[in-house]
Amino acid sequence: MKKCSVAITGSGAALPERRMTNFDLEKMVETSDEWIFSRTGIRERRILEEGLSNVDLSERASREALRNAGLEPEQVELILVATVTPDYPLPATACNLQARLGAFQAAAMDIAAGCSGFIYALTVADHFIRAGTYQNALVIGVEILSRIIDWEDRSTCVLFGDGAGAAVLQPVTGDRGLISFELGADGRGLESLYIPAGGVALPTSAETVQQRLHYVKMDGPEIFKFAVRVVGETLDHLLKKGELQPTDLDHLFLHQANLRIIESIRKRLKLPREKVPVNIDRYGNMSSATIPIALYEEVAAGRLKEGDLLAAVAFGAGLTWGGILMRW
Ligand code: UT7
Repeated sequence: MKKCSVAITGSGAALPERRMTNFDLEKMVETSDEWIFSRTGIRERRILEEGLSNVDLSERASREALRNAGLEPEQVELILVATVTPDYPLPATACNLQARLGAFQAAAMDIAAGCSGFIYALTVADHFIRAGTYQNALVIGVEILSRIIDWEDRSTCVLFGDGAGAAVLQPVTGDRGLISFELGADGRGLESLYIPAGGVALPTSAETVQQRLHYVKMDGPEIFKFAVRVVGETLDHLLKKGELQPTDLDHLFLHQANLRIIESIRKRLKLPREKVPVNIDRYGNMSSATIPIALYEEVAAGRLKEGDLLAAVAFGAGLTWGGILMRW
């Protein structure tokens, strides 16, 4: 096991004010609160107000994380924005955020790894800091999924929500910090979760818009099976590497895509509910934002304390997956 040296020293979150409940959705597509809640665990989600965009939520979450870490924006050396919903196809949202924050010393780029984006970005930042290249990094998981889902497609529009979570990473001494990680991808699953048009493979045209090809298409049951498998395997590998048992974990943060996935993993590992935070009921699936927001909420509630051992595992479009083991 590698020596711990890079820890999250501040976290932040930002959510849109506007709530959309399952009952609101009943008026928009043929669905029901009963179906949505029993199949997914979702009761409501947040939807970003018109006129605001990714950078607005990213900035709010970032400022709070920086404040909690005691860092000024001018001191930030690296900004990584994990997102599949950038403000523009070009350039990176991280550059827009850098300007908003006035963090002009920072290198800035986006990382697109689907719902695993935050875990991917954390490990990239960890490597830069451990190598001595940067003294700190601001990592954000943010999605405005309400702008890329088809509000006429009941199989996807009931699932997603908007939000941003941010974390500041810095070198630390002692036992705290990132212990190990595992990242994976299987590009053969590309069409299980993708947006067919709007990239250079199929540029936007009147026809692609008319065929609604610029919205998310997902094979839900396929992703469900994939998720249960890779989350289980990733956790097994992380625990084995650390010579740990599931019961050694104080917290397990799982990507919030479906409460049934979360519950099946929790029960398999025989972990009590209080060790496996759930926010999908309140926010839906916010892709790369679900884990950083859950981390922030557990810290804010005083449940995630210095010295606690945690694992976080995500999976998503790509297909991708990623997990970390960390001493808080
Ligand atoms: O963030 C990572 C990416 N996403 C995921 O991880 C999602 C993983 N997958 C899932 O969470 C689940 O597969 C879903 C929640 C998406 C779907 O649940 P399911 O139990 O796998 O349902 P299904 O897709 O097999 O559909 C079952 C039925 C179908 O009707 P028939 O063919 O059995 O008559 C659907 O048409 O439910 C119907 N259905 C709905 N009914 C009411 C699908 N969406 C809805 C809806 N309201 N919103």
